[in-house]
Amino acid sequence: MGSCNAYESSSMQNLLGETLRPGGFKLTEIALKYCGISETDKVLDLGCGRGATLRYLSENHGISAAGIDPSEMLLADARTELPEAELVLGRAEALPFESNRFDCVFAECTLSLMESTDEAINQTHRVLKPNGWFIISDVYAKNPQALPELRESAVNSCMRGMHELPVLEEKLRGAGFSVALTEDYSEFLKELLVKIGFSYGSMSSFWNLSTDNCVDGGDFDFKLKQCKPGYFLLIARK
Ligand SMILES: C[S@@+](CC[C@H](N)C(=O)[O-])C[C@H]1O[C@@H](n2cnc3c(N)ncnc32)[C@H](O)[C@@H]1O
Repeated sequence: MGSCNAYESSSMQNLLGETLRPGGFKLTEIALKYCGISETDKVLDLGCGRGATLRYLSENHGISAAGIDPSEMLLADARTELPEAELVLGRAEALPFESNRFDCVFAECTLSLMESTDEAINQTHRVLKPNGWFIISDVYAKNPQALPELRESAVNSCMRGMHELPVLEEKLRGAGFSVALTEDYSEFLKELLVKIGFSYGSMSSFWNLSTDNCVDGGDFDFKLKQCKPGYFLLIARK
């Protein structure tokens, strides 16, 4: 089945602005404080997109982070904004970084888009130093029974890959992480969905537009609602 990258579409960028996720930098900030990350720490942003978090970390915390993303188009924007940053074209499932290099790895609304969450988690564990932090913010299903239907859709959105939280926590533990914190921030997703509703008239028209009609927007939206989507922040430690 084919798929299309909704994050490269101009409608998605117009709607979300700088960051390509719900909540902007609020969860980034909560996580930085919780983990006590400072400018001496080595940070990696998995799925850095257009580099919004990299710029935020640099401007507000003096942290020069590295970023990796498989989208040439998004990475080109990031390179224009951050000519000095280490920006790598690639996937989290095969990280081209040496082991034990980073103190902290962010995955902000990206793990849900990956072909293999297991590989991405194992690779993150490998590149983190002992006691390093893995900061994940993403979408999850409050009704995971409806997930199989949603997964059949061709749209390449984090919504299609929303997590089943206990399964994700188990995968992290299985890879050698301990889960330090899991908190619900569904209000950020709700805010975004309301904004989309106002801007596009309906969620179905948004899905049609943002995927260049790759999917039947109404059908995708129906399957999405069955899953009762929420948003979380999870912090794991190696
Ligand atoms: C919802 S956007 C979030 C981008 C950025 N983290 C932000 O919050 O602005 C998801 C990003 O994950 C990237 N992505 C998709 N598959 C990936 C993979 N296998 N490894 C790393 N990044 C991936 C996409 O290209 C996109 O930039």
